[in-house]
Amino acid sequence: MEESRELLELAMGLARSAGALQRQRYQTHLEIHTKDTPVNLVTEVDHACEELIVGELQKRRPRDGILAEEGRGESRPDALWRWIIDPLDGTTNYAHAYPRFCVSIGLERDGEPWLGAVYDPLLEELYHAVRGGGAFCNGRPLHVSQEESLDRALLATGFAYDRRRSPEDNLRHFASFLKAARALRRDGSAALDLCYVAAGRLDGFWEFKLSPWDVAAGCLLVEEAGGRCSDAQGGRSYRSGRAVLATNGRLHAAMLKILASGS
Ligand code: IPD
Ligand code: CA
Ligand code: CA
Repeated sequence: MEESRELLELAMGLARSAGALQRQRYQTHLEIHTKDTPVNLVTEVDHACEELIVGELQKRRPRDGILAEEGRGESRPDALWRWIIDPLDGTTNYAHAYPRFCVSIGLERDGEPWLGAVYDPLLEELYHAVRGGGAFCNGRPLHVSQEESLDRALLATGFAYDRRRSPEDNLRHFASFLKAARALRRDGSAALDLCYVAAGRLDGFWEFKLSPWDVAAGCLLVEEAGGRCSDAQGGRSYRSGRAVLATNGRLHAAMLKILASGS
């Protein structure tokens, strides 16, 4: 328990420090590059945040494995603990000075989600969860919404960076949910979308072709707030991020049905 507390303090401290860096550099001139597709951006702040987080982890937890989006850190397959880091989730927003982005830090113990910390530096909202201990925002307990009807639901999604060339572009599902729900958002930070499901601000979220660092912390938040996460078939493979459905639980079956039919 003592170790768990220390790891949580470490994760929250690192999320705050990287978030402070994001806040400092927000709306300043940034060096921006593209990655595998012309719409997939990475800024010098993504790299600086990752360097800060991974550098500190390597000092303080040299035996732990690390999976970080921009490639720093060693995976160490035999390690008991593995950190899963998105140093800046919402890079396109950040590059456009659109105020919605965060730091996301997840930690697995023996391959199972153990804790998550997500920090929104502009709203100064620090989300955290430890397996079995509930989910919190700035220390306040979080609970998913009670909404039972898709008709009154506020949902969110996102679109993958290969959408210009891939026929699996989420547009069919987007159209179906747009008709079925009260309203739909695409706000550009999957980790925050998941925290908003945990907080009851959103009733459901789905997305395809995410990565483990997008969902490692956020899905634990959802589950610890009483919600449910699955892949698009209701299965357990969502931690890869390839297909994620996160809901308040009550809407899960209805959303799975639409994902299965696309209509
Ligand atoms: C992206 C954001 C976005 C989602 C993309 C992600 P990044 O992460 O979470 O909301 O739609 O699929 O890749 O690139 O800003 O870390
Ligand atoms: Ca991300
Ligand atoms: Ca990122």
